Amino acid sequence: MGWEILGIRDSYDGLFEEGGVVRLDRKAVSGITHQGGTILGTTNRGNPLRWPVKARDGSVTYEDRTRDVIEALADLGVDALIAIGGDGSLAIANSLAEKGLKVIGVPKTIDNDLAATQLTFGFITAVETATDALDKLHSTAESHERVMVVELMGRNTGWIALYAGLAGTADVILIPEIPYDLGSVCEKIEARYARGRNFAIVVVAEGSYPVGGQPLFKQTGSGQKRLGGMAEVVAEAIADRTGRETRSLVLGHLQRGGSPSAYDRLLALRFGTAAVRLAEQGAFGCMVALDPPEVHAVPLAEAISKTKFVPLEGDIVQTARAMGICMGD
Ligand code: F6P
Repeated sequence: MGWEILGIRDSYDGLFEEGGVVRLDRKAVSGITHQGGTILGTTNRGNPLRWPVKARDGSVTYEDRTRDVIEALADLGVDALIAIGGDGSLAIANSLAEKGLKVIGVPKTIDNDLAATQLTFGFITAVETATDALDKLHSTAESHERVMVVELMGRNTGWIALYAGLAGTADVILIPEIPYDLGSVCEKIEARYARGRNFAIVVVAEGSYPVGGQPLFKQTGSGQKRLGGMAEVVAEAIADRTGRETRSLVLGHLQRGGSPSAYDRLLALRFGTAAVRLAEQGAFGCMVALDPPEVHAVPLAEAISKTKFVPLEGDIVQTARAMGICMGD
């Protein structure tokens, strides 16, 4: 098309740093389809809508730096921006679009929690990694006759836990959409042991919480609060209540790495080429979205307005229940 493509390193940070803007020519992007992560680097801090500014006394205030982003892009002679990311990144993209920048969004998050698209890329790879981990956990669970409790990612939604839990034949799947009752969880485990199955696999989405309770946050060394730790809590409670030998683990960032699945590669390529088509047509302020069998454009404002929660009456939850999986309720 004769267009010049620039990549901004580390989200918008690269706009304000020496060497932070790189040319993405044919050579720069060749051979990356099978790679995980991003050759541009990324960050989920330093949001230009809430840019931290440190005062001399050490106190931090937050500024909206979206105008600076728009100016920096104009200085570079950029005509349009393609923003790739999840709800946070696309909210920034929408704010830039509202201020007049020509923007197209591409949905990328392992969480799959954007309502306007059937799938976000990264999700299926994460599900495959988590399913593989559940398969492998069966060895220890079965050999040692243990209850294995695994924490998977999913801050507000239980998509990874539900898909991987089903594919990996978990006995219990706890998701943020269904507050759990430990009594039901333990009942399910005991019923399984009573049937002669001497192990159980419990999947816990990191944002899950008990009926009447709250998601769990851990204090980090630097004083930040970080979501996580519910698998350990659930494992201890199961051990206390059932007397069964129980272990917990957190799969963590393994879910966000490795070579993308064939499906994710295809989806990323489809989204990328669709974004370029939109730019060619001058259709800005949109996000590309999977609406099978096609990729369509949806307004960015609409795309960020709704979180896609697991539908409780949907067929996937029904499938889990029909398989006898305890959903925590
Ligand atoms: O948004 C994607 C996500 O993977 C969430 O599921 C998870 O809670 C979060 O990122 C983890 O972020 P960090 O890499 O900052 O620990």
